[in-house]
Amino acid sequence: ATRTIVPRPAFHFTPRRNWMNDPNGLVHDRGVWHLYFQYNPSGSDWGNMSWGHATSSDLQHWREHPVALSHRDGEQIFSGSVVATTDGDETSLTAFYTSAFDDDHQAQSTASSRDGGYTWLPDPANPILDRGTSAFRDPKVVRFDDPTGRSRWIMLTVEADDRQVLIYSSTDLRSWSLQSTFGPLGDAGVVWECPDLVLLPLDGDPDDLRGVLLLSTNPVGEDADADGSSMHYIVGAFDGAVFTPDRPELERLDHGRDLYAGVTFDSAPGGEAIMLGWMSNWRYAHVFPSAPWRGAMSLPRRLSLRTVDGAARLVQEPAPFVGELLAQGSETTVADTAHPSTIMLGTHAILQASWDPASTGAVRFALSGDADATVELDHDPRGGELRVTRRGRAAEAVHQDFPSTSAVPLVGTSPVTLLMSLDGPLLEVFVGDGSATASNLVVLGDGPITLILTTDHGGPITMTVADIESPERMT
Ligand code: FRU
Repeated sequence: ATRTIVPRPAFHFTPRRNWMNDPNGLVHDRGVWHLYFQYNPSGSDWGNMSWGHATSSDLQHWREHPVALSHRDGEQIFSGSVVATTDGDETSLTAFYTSAFDDDHQAQSTASSRDGGYTWLPDPANPILDRGTSAFRDPKVVRFDDPTGRSRWIMLTVEADDRQVLIYSSTDLRSWSLQSTFGPLGDAGVVWECPDLVLLPLDGDPDDLRGVLLLSTNPVGEDADADGSSMHYIVGAFDGAVFTPDRPELERLDHGRDLYAGVTFDSAPGGEAIMLGWMSNWRYAHVFPSAPWRGAMSLPRRLSLRTVDGAARLVQEPAPFVGELLAQGSETTVADTAHPSTIMLGTHAILQASWDPASTGAVRFALSGDADATVELDHDPRGGELRVTRRGRAAEAVHQDFPSTSAVPLVGTSPVTLLMSLDGPLLEVFVGDGSATASNLVVLGDGPITLILTTDHGGPITMTVADIESPERMT
């Protein structure tokens, strides 16, 4: 079998070498975006879990730093969060993470940094929250101002195996008291991981703040769902203690196979909710054939809430740099797509397209490169969805469950708008201005990409295509 070469992404974060999973400790502090991440400092498989560290001034270019929190004998450092607090001129950063002890016991610990997030001192009193249980993890601390202006800290954690979110509060980041629990609900064959709670105005109305619970679920057990891990959200009301869902069901946050453990930055400018996720799937993360790195972060996405068909829906827009890259591209209108049109793309490219399904009928974008695999984006106006299909030998060679079709529901869409970001093995599709997304790993090879565009009834399709240079990264 031929080995597919997986190019390193050019405008997404990947560690120089070794294994990475969840984003941790996302915080913006004095102009610097900090990204910590689940990291194995000494191997390309999961293990020795520690917090790696990278920083950026623009969310596009990242610089990797030495490991921030290291595993040690008997204790791994699992996922968690960081908050920035100011007292006069002084800014401090406080981290919350899970101590995963070798005796199958998980509890929450804290650490502080006095040098802006580069070195960390674990608290001698750790662990600070301990229930004596084995799947108590992923503390996410968020600030909450109640309507009277009093502020407090909220910590969300999970009892992963019980499919339950535990909500604690604190006024000093030191003593925490349990306020409520949420769950279980939904699919029973999964664990719940990496909760987050974001408060977002509905349709931009600052007087109508809704609570949005973010949650990642991973199928477990003998009959585990072969689709693997995925992210969800629930819209509701949060009063500082209890989360009350509008509808007791989990909505898919992303319809692809490869977005997991997404959480938002603390202290982002303007109070915006900027989310990063890990672009992989526990079903096959350990065999994805990239080297010497394994694991990539998604595009940073700004979250908002919009009423669509009477329900509050989460909308995701890529960070502004994506629009800036696209603005350097060139616009073309493909008028007669009744005959397939061929467009060449770089290995790293951003493409925006729009069309009126009443004049095009069904539309297909088929991507292929030098690997024996294709990715097809299919829109059939009768189906009300966009389908993203990975197929071919190179896809089968990754893992038996890697070939897949993701169905992305489309609501109120004429014209159809599509933003596609292809960064080597990372394909993210935003449709309807971010009202639905699909994020997938792809294995198209490391050469140029051929895009073949076909429609049922001809064009026109308006497109802007920007090829992105891949700066040679040191490995
Ligand atoms: C989610 C997760 C977390 C855990 C971490 C361990 O992907 O399983 O629940 O803290 O990864 O690496």
